[in-house]
Amino acid sequence: MNFENILVTTENGIGQITINRPSKLNALNKATIQELHDAFEALEANEEIRVIIVTGEGEKAFVAGADISEFANFSIQEGAHLAAQGQELLFDFVESLRKPVIAAVNGFALGGGLELAMSCHFRIASDNAKMGLPEVSLGVIPGYGGTQRLPQLIGKGRAMEMIMTAGMISAEEAFRAGLVNHVVPQAELLDFTKNIATKIMRNSPFAIGRAIKAINANYKDGINGFETEIRNFGKCFGTEDFKEGTTAFLEKRKAEFTGK
Ligand code: COA
Repeated sequence: MNFENILVTTENGIGQITINRPSKLNALNKATIQELHDAFEALEANEEIRVIIVTGEGEKAFVAGADISEFANFSIQEGAHLAAQGQELLFDFVESLRKPVIAAVNGFALGGGLELAMSCHFRIASDNAKMGLPEVSLGVIPGYGGTQRLPQLIGKGRAMEMIMTAGMISAEEAFRAGLVNHVVPQAELLDFTKNIATKIMRNSPFAIGRAIKAINANYKDGINGFETEIRNFGKCFGTEDFKEGTTAFLEKRKAEFTGK
């Protein structure tokens, strides 16, 4: 696939998407959002890929937000459409993928950038990373799920303060708040993230996909997470992965999972 705004590489079961507009601090314009959707969709369909990593090109930014130059003159309807379309194409789409998606946050993750990182299943930050939702400083609110996912991740009070002040927090503060799982020196960020991806890849892809679904169910209105867990727990029993996992354990060998 040919992309203008992102780079996609695949190696050893890991698909890496790098947002590649460093001169604009990797800001998400419409074209980039569409390309990201297409890349995630293709990696989800690629049977050789088991984990997806998202990062930003350069040493300065993961993503410095939605591209402000694109929406500065929008009307009420255009604004609502921008948020709805973005959420459907990218942010909800990523969160619901059955393959694990890890954000390697390599610098500024602001506005839509932090919202993208929060849509990923978890986050690892470089020590220079800075995170925030500065939308109210522009006269808008976060529109790509930020008002929902930030409180889910760090609690309502902290999210209220971050959103109201439009301030940025450091990688260490993000770690303490539970927004990122690890903080590592920038030069080690990708290797560290790939190492975690490799640990994930030893496990059943089918079961991981179902676990993602069950965990996400806790955060969806009108869906009972416990029931979702029971249903998906049951589904695992019909899979080759389950047979392989239990048989390998009893035979004292390493399981070879296929995801089927
Ligand atoms: N949308 C569009 N362009 C952006 C952008 C965004 N969200 N963030 C950065 N850029 C562009 C800048 O306009 C600049 O482009 P130019 O060189 O053509 O003028 C380039 O990226 C570099 O940014 P610059 O502001 O010069 O870098 P800096 O080191 O001085 O500041 C930030 C870095 C992240 C603090 C600053 O770019 C910023 O505040 N960006 C906007 C963050 C934001 O509000 N995001 C939420 C959007 S809803």
